[in-house]
Amino acid sequence: MAGLRLAAAAFHLCLLLCPSSSLRRLYDDEAESTPRHGGFRTAYHFQPAKNWQNDPNGPMYHGGKYHFFYQYNPHGATWGTGNLSWGHSVSADLVSWTALHTALDPDSPFDANGCWSGSATILPDGRPAVLYTGIDAAGNQVQNVAFPKNASDPLLREWVKPGYNPVIPLPGDVEHDSFRDPSTAWRGRDGLWRVAVAAKLDASVGSTLIYRSKDFLRWERNAAPLYESPAAGMVECPDLFPVAEPGHQNGLDYAPSNGAARHVLKLSVMATLQDYYVVGWYDDAADTFAPAAGADNDSRTWRRLDYGHVYASKSFFDARKNRRVLWGWANESDPEADYVARGWSGVQTVPRKVWLDRDGKQLLQWPIEEIETLRKKRVQLLGTKVNAGGVNEIIGVAGSQADVEVVFEIPALEGAENLEPNGLLDPQKLCGEKGASVPGGVGPFGLLVLASGDLHEHTSVFFRVFKHDGKYKVLMCADLTRSTTRVDVYKPPYGGFVDMDIQKTRSISLRTLIDHSVVESFGGGGRTCITARTYPMHVEMSNSHLYMFNNGTGSVKVSKLEAWELATATVNVAHDG
Ligand SMILES: *[C@@H]1O[C@H](CO)[C@@H](O)[C@H](O)[C@H]1NC(C)=O
Ligand SMILES: *[C@@H]1O[C@H](CO)[C@@H](O)[C@H](O)[C@H]1NC(C)=O
Ligand SMILES: *[C@@H]1O[C@H](CO)[C@@H](O)[C@H](O)[C@H]1NC(C)=O
Ligand SMILES: *[C@@H]1O[C@H](CO)[C@@H](O)[C@H](O)[C@H]1NC(C)=O
Ligand SMILES: *[C@@H]1O[C@H](CO)[C@@H](O)[C@H](O)[C@H]1NC(C)=O
Repeated sequence: MAGLRLAAAAFHLCLLLCPSSSLRRLYDDEAESTPRHGGFRTAYHFQPAKNWQNDPNGPMYHGGKYHFFYQYNPHGATWGTGNLSWGHSVSADLVSWTALHTALDPDSPFDANGCWSGSATILPDGRPAVLYTGIDAAGNQVQNVAFPKNASDPLLREWVKPGYNPVIPLPGDVEHDSFRDPSTAWRGRDGLWRVAVAAKLDASVGSTLIYRSKDFLRWERNAAPLYESPAAGMVECPDLFPVAEPGHQNGLDYAPSNGAARHVLKLSVMATLQDYYVVGWYDDAADTFAPAAGADNDSRTWRRLDYGHVYASKSFFDARKNRRVLWGWANESDPEADYVARGWSGVQTVPRKVWLDRDGKQLLQWPIEEIETLRKKRVQLLGTKVNAGGVNEIIGVAGSQADVEVVFEIPALEGAENLEPNGLLDPQKLCGEKGASVPGGVGPFGLLVLASGDLHEHTSVFFRVFKHDGKYKVLMCADLTRSTTRVDVYKPPYGGFVDMDIQKTRSISLRTLIDHSVVESFGGGGRTCITARTYPMHVEMSNSHLYMFNNGTGSVKVSKLEAWELATATVNVAHDG
């Protein structure tokens, strides 16, 4: 208090006389006494009111409400000692959220050192259950179950952990700190429950184990793992889910299958801190999963769920809208001291609807339609052009909180650059070598977002078409290298190829959600997603701008551009007390 008043008085004295560095200092002092959210707090991404969050946990639709849980440190903005709780929020629409008390806290012998990640399962009688990893008093990882104290409470406020936990103790052949993240459970044709748990076996093999149960209490390990990827090492947060026929957008809940159901297996690989998925076949008799023909067993070679900054994703079946919805954690990229000063760390991606593309090989991901309820001011451009070397500003929407959809038409592909023989191997590296400022043939063209008026700071999200082996390849990049003048934040170029036939479509779409420190982009209708965290400095002094640009040799047609300013969602501002 005293400090605040002093600072305010000093500020008046200083106004005309002080060098800018002491003004800066004053600002910092104020920041210390009043937790300042600054320009980086998001407006419509999921965040708790304060403190640290990481993995999404146990998302579910139950009794007309969505429940979302998350790894949460109630004591501060760092992961801390890792003795985490489960944060808990409820929503009617996946956009506005009300914060409840923590659902699980590390206060039992079987989770004394942390209630780690897990998933929710709706039991046949409609009662939800969660399976989660406890770090027990001895520091071992074990799997526990918890139930709502009162299943009729519409908010499921209190959760109880039966004394018979852990339901799955640490097996003898699994390393004590590498046994975690139970998936949503499902039932097979034999009526038995199954759950997948990630485990590193003593022989150092990263594995996903299957446990079976008659009653959800006594679980027995299946001799065969669901899946093993020895080269990839320890994996986390396995997510196995059925998908409808290629091109069908409806989601599927788990159902006893005929042994030939197309599934997606998503694994989070510790060694790279990236999420990968593959489409394949789940055999519900053997409880094994085989990637579709042509896919390698090493999960690091699978498709990336997001080519940016997303980890530990988890999906659930949304019975309200008959779709599968996925969340992922995007951590901070600035120094710990900065987010400690801000008082919070970590955001969730916007909930994404996911379904199988017509090609049967890749997922399409798209922000759930409810996000569109936040759209207010709109600007639209039809049939414009961005000339070679051009930069066109999109005027009329606030550039820090926006949703932009654009369709680029490519009149001619002939000018595309040649891709070197090994150019497909490392798209991120390619985005580094061929950034927005490196003129190309067809592209680079795309958006400049969170840009200062002088373009000194900007994040570029763009495409570049290459010729390769008689075909055309589309590279998508989100380049952070010029996103901020700060040098102490992680600001790489991110990149992935877009698996599409550009020769046939002659056009490519881009949707980018901008939310202060988040730039979440969906290329080619959601085939390639890139989520980035950015910390531009200009936002302290001025507005952010939005541009289209083209640094290719030919002009690019913009058949349609729509940009909306987005309203601020009510996310965990109120506590239900
Ligand atoms: C849990 O975290 C709190 C706050 O960081 C710390 O004081 C406490 O010692 C931790 N407990 C354990 C068991 O690590
Ligand atoms: C359970 O919740 C319902 C609905 O809120 C309430 O009517 C009932 O009294 C609660 N039961 C107990 C034992 O608290
Ligand atoms: C993948 O692993 C399975 C099971 O170990 C094996 O049968 C199969 O041959 C492997 N496939 C490839 C492409 O290595
Ligand atoms: C978190 O961010 C840092 C950059 O600051 C990055 O190097 C790291 O891999 C990220 N961790 C996860 C789990 O995404
Ligand atoms: C386009 O290329 C020119 C020349 O390299 C560069 O000066 C300009 O900054 C580039 N535009 C963008 C948006 O990077």
